[in-house]
Amino acid sequence: SAIPVITIDGPTASGKGTVAQKVAQHLGFHYLDSGALYRLTALSALRRNTPLDDEHALAKVAEHLHCHFDGMHIFLSNEDVSDAIRAEVVGNTASQIATLMPVRQALYGLQLGFRKAPGLVADGRDMGTVIFPHAALKVFLTASVDARAQRRYKQLIDKGFSANMKDLSMDLKMRDERDTHRSSAPLKAADGAHHLDTSEMTAEQAVQQVLSWYAAVK
Ligand code: C5P
Repeated sequence: SAIPVITIDGPTASGKGTVAQKVAQHLGFHYLDSGALYRLTALSALRRNTPLDDEHALAKVAEHLHCHFDGMHIFLSNEDVSDAIRAEVVGNTASQIATLMPVRQALYGLQLGFRKAPGLVADGRDMGTVIFPHAALKVFLTASVDARAQRRYKQLIDKGFSANMKDLSMDLKMRDERDTHRSSAPLKAADGAHHLDTSEMTAEQAVQQVLSWYAAVK
């Protein structure tokens, strides 16, 4: 189809969310935060006490997500859960349930639906490898564990959560390990992806790099 997609995949707290959102703004494209869908599923499961080892019950939760996205805000039913889904416990649960194929399948169609004219910027782990393999541009965004722990620390403190650097670094490494080594849609660079290490870059520099790559392929 003619509707262009830009995929931005990478590890947790690599800055891909910020970069993807800004690229979408520059181009007037839609934006898909696919991690938010796993987080919404996790939050919903935690609230319903769905057993985290029951993949079919969890897939049902994913299938029946009543979520909507409205600019910066994310709603579950009619509740604004934009901050609630960023809690560490929700991120960790999301990373656990994201290993389950039935959950990933339940969220597949929902993700495809975000592709609308004039275009889409999608960020996550498997946007370029599984969900949008024919994307016009694929980016694999990374940053050192230290840089990422610092960013995550700042995010959490700004949102009023407590955090400490040592726990955050350990947590990032654990989540990297799980995201990279799972059998279903592991985190890896898509064929033909442009690699971008943002450890020493500002978000705006990363955005400019992605825009110039896109200008070259569109
Ligand atoms: O990117 P974010 O930290 O919000 O994602 C939460 C979790 O959801 C990740 O740790 C990852 O395990 C999972 N995820 C995924 N596939 C995606 C996006 C996120 O498995 N496309």
